[in-house]
Amino acid sequence: MGSMPSEMLSARERIPVSVHEEPHDVSRAVAREIADLIRQREGDGLQCVLGLATGSTPTGVYAELVRMHQQEGLSFRNVVTFNLDEYYPMDADAEQSYRRFMDDHLFDHVDIPAGQIHMPDGTLPLEEVSAHCAAYEKAIQEAGGLDLQLLGIGRTGHIGFNEPGSGRHSVTRLITLDNVTRTDAAGDFFGKHNVPRRAITMGVATILGARRVVLMALGEGKAPIVVQAVEGDVNDVIAASFLQEHDNAEVILDRAAADRLTRYTSPWVLGSVAWDERVIRKAVIWLAQRVDKPILKLTDEDYNENHLQDLLAEYGSAYEINLRVFHDLNGTITGWPGGKPAHLKLPGDRKWPRDEIHPKRILVFSPHPDDDVISMGGCLMRLAEQGHEVHVAYQVSGSLAVFDEDAERFLEFASSYNELFGISPDVSGEIQDRIAGFMAEKRPGQEDSDDLQLIKREIRRGEARAAGRHCGIPVDRLHFQDLPFYDTGTVRKKPLSEEDILLTVELLDRIKPHMIFAAGDLSDPHGTHRVCLTAIFEAFGRLADHDWYQECVVWLYRGAWQEWEPERIDMSVPLSPGELERKRMAIFKHESQKDKAMFPGSDAREFWERAEDRNRATARLFDKLGLAEYEAVEAFVRWRGTTTSL
Ligand code: F6R
Repeated sequence: MGSMPSEMLSARERIPVSVHEEPHDVSRAVAREIADLIRQREGDGLQCVLGLATGSTPTGVYAELVRMHQQEGLSFRNVVTFNLDEYYPMDADAEQSYRRFMDDHLFDHVDIPAGQIHMPDGTLPLEEVSAHCAAYEKAIQEAGGLDLQLLGIGRTGHIGFNEPGSGRHSVTRLITLDNVTRTDAAGDFFGKHNVPRRAITMGVATILGARRVVLMALGEGKAPIVVQAVEGDVNDVIAASFLQEHDNAEVILDRAAADRLTRYTSPWVLGSVAWDERVIRKAVIWLAQRVDKPILKLTDEDYNENHLQDLLAEYGSAYEINLRVFHDLNGTITGWPGGKPAHLKLPGDRKWPRDEIHPKRILVFSPHPDDDVISMGGCLMRLAEQGHEVHVAYQVSGSLAVFDEDAERFLEFASSYNELFGISPDVSGEIQDRIAGFMAEKRPGQEDSDDLQLIKREIRRGEARAAGRHCGIPVDRLHFQDLPFYDTGTVRKKPLSEEDILLTVELLDRIKPHMIFAAGDLSDPHGTHRVCLTAIFEAFGRLADHDWYQECVVWLYRGAWQEWEPERIDMSVPLSPGELERKRMAIFKHESQKDKAMFPGSDAREFWERAEDRNRATARLFDKLGLAEYEAVEAFVRWRGTTTSL
């Protein structure tokens, strides 16, 4: 929408918004602004007072600042920091403490003097907290106020931990965390029950007191709350909406987090747009839903009365546009996701990429051991049934998502098995005692011992094998990659390394697939899917001149957390009621994941329920648009070679 005049955008957007394509572009832009400010204040002989945030969003900013310190001589000697918040109660060195987070990501790697770092103190007895909060406010004032406050945004719209109900005039105080926020933190604490109920946070007034406020948001998971904060009314249910009242606040987003802004959902409402196939499809689906009619019944008046005069003028009549979009969408539907063999083709059947090869070698990348069946279980079963050589690569072990109790049950089973069959009961008893002893002493969030990690990994492997068998994929075509970036034993992952990429290159080059399916679902809570996809793209880069790769077709699936937007779908695979049931059974094989209601974004429903809801919703949409009526539909986007096409 680069060509749109900015006053048009601001008709809906009530805070200045910048959108960058990729998350790392956002991090770099924010880090550059902070570095410039630090240098400018230093040049003026002044301290630079920064308000800092924790969470997944600013980690890229801190990494970039550390890089600038190490490589470009950016100094933090004149920087004074005040962090937004801390859980209460919380030991400063606990794995989940924000103090520890800041040390790990920034303070330990730069030259900031320890006395210039301020964080709310989660270790104080309750009766001292309110005086501490008042002193925190005073310290900010005495430092001359905040030059810049960096913010993330929670799914409740919180900034800091100013949960719904926090007023415009609130200051630093103890607050009770919202249920959604505690759910979102559950992964870090290995269970919601371990998440503290309270936190100390700067107030809305404290934040608005900063001379400059930068709110960052990344990923499609943030899109719904971002649009409310930016385009909605100011209200105390969404604390971030108060930024509309600040005269120097900016919201900096990646494309995914910006996706629900009017400038992307219905830009034609704001002004003229460039009509390409995707925009036309999007506009027509939008119109059909808005006037509640199937595509083929949309009239000239519907277009004219709903901001689509330009489109109508350009293409002449509703009839023409309707037919074009109807056929375009209808053409995405196929029951043959790997292509239809020539002898079964009917006259008029659409040509699909690499149709001529049948059967194909197909490689499905599944970030965790259950993403394949959750997101494309129906398609997977069809591919196997239709005779293709289907391989699945499980990219990470998924051991982190197994509860200790489940590991305990399997340990008991292993030792009874050994006992029953007289297999070295002494050794197995010893191992069981060692692991049980570790679990008894384990603190929430503490890294698992090596044995325990192995057991959890095996549990997930067994489940993936059971699901694979159910889908008709032989065990020797299941590849457990155990990419090393994941196996840290804690929710904090290592960065993607050369080893991860080489393992992926090696697998791809061994199988030489004609077709690949990969998870384009980037909003999983700990960013694992994003890293897994990067590993694949990096590997593609290394394989670019291989003949097999040049002809390889790549499909991206979603579904574990989000579904593809309908205007982006390139292939729709319908599922009958029976197939949907078989898909559910495949998901059920992942028993250890049966209750993931504790994880972010899961809204208390289990994976199979959410997968079915999404597949049914796509089918319902097609039905409402006047296409065929199916029980459920799995959707895919063709990857055409750039990350920005996601
Ligand atoms: C962190 C903070 C919170 C987070 C918000 C988003 O200090 O105060 O407001 O910014 O919860 O968290 P992430 O970035 O993890 O999505």
